[in-house]
Amino acid sequence: MKEPKFIVIEGLDGSGKGTQIALLEKFLVDKGFNVCLTCEPTKYATGGLIRDALGGITKRTPHELAALFLADRISHCENPADGIKALLNRGVTVICDRYYFSSLAYQGMDIGLDWLLPAHINCPAIIKPDLCVFLDVPTSECDRRISAGRSSREIYENKETIERVRKSYFEVFERLSGTHRIKIIDAARPPLDVAKDVAEAVSELFEGVN
Ligand code: TMP
Repeated sequence: MKEPKFIVIEGLDGSGKGTQIALLEKFLVDKGFNVCLTCEPTKYATGGLIRDALGGITKRTPHELAALFLADRISHCENPADGIKALLNRGVTVICDRYYFSSLAYQGMDIGLDWLLPAHINCPAIIKPDLCVFLDVPTSECDRRISAGRSSREIYENKETIERVRKSYFEVFERLSGTHRIKIIDAARPPLDVAKDVAEAVSELFEGVN
């Protein structure tokens, strides 16, 4: 059996994660892998509280929001039925749409990393991914895609914030370099060209996939 991996896809709002995740899933399934897609915020109770905050329905302070994402992530790792650890233990490769890199970039830009980074890295319940792929798209293009695709915007989906988040992501990647496998991919290209690079980065994790 092929050893399952935990792969995270990150990117700015409007970076095309959904398309790339679907193409990566197809690539891996065609290679004979058992694959499960998952995302954060999750579908669990804490994920619902977060969605309300992102939609502006409930006001949360940045620290509160960071703590909610942290709690949601712990549920996501530990849920015995369909949590990430349970899936990996069953031999399923997990592709996750956003993970702690998002908290470090989005909440980190407001509250810093002093407690946020150790809270994630030192928490025994939170597992470290095998690979993080960052889909890098210019912020103007993200803004255009958000405008084209949605009638309303969530709290982080405005041009100035997206600029700040992109900078924040790169600071986080710099901080994690050496401890995490992170692949930054130019995602401003045609989707199939991007998918080829994503597949290549993922293939390097597995022996004999190519
Ligand atoms: P998405 O479902 O379209 O990816 O949107 C989720 C939003 O939540 C996006 O704006 C990024 C934000 N987010 C955080 O701020 N911190 C986190 O830890 C996660 C997972 C997402």
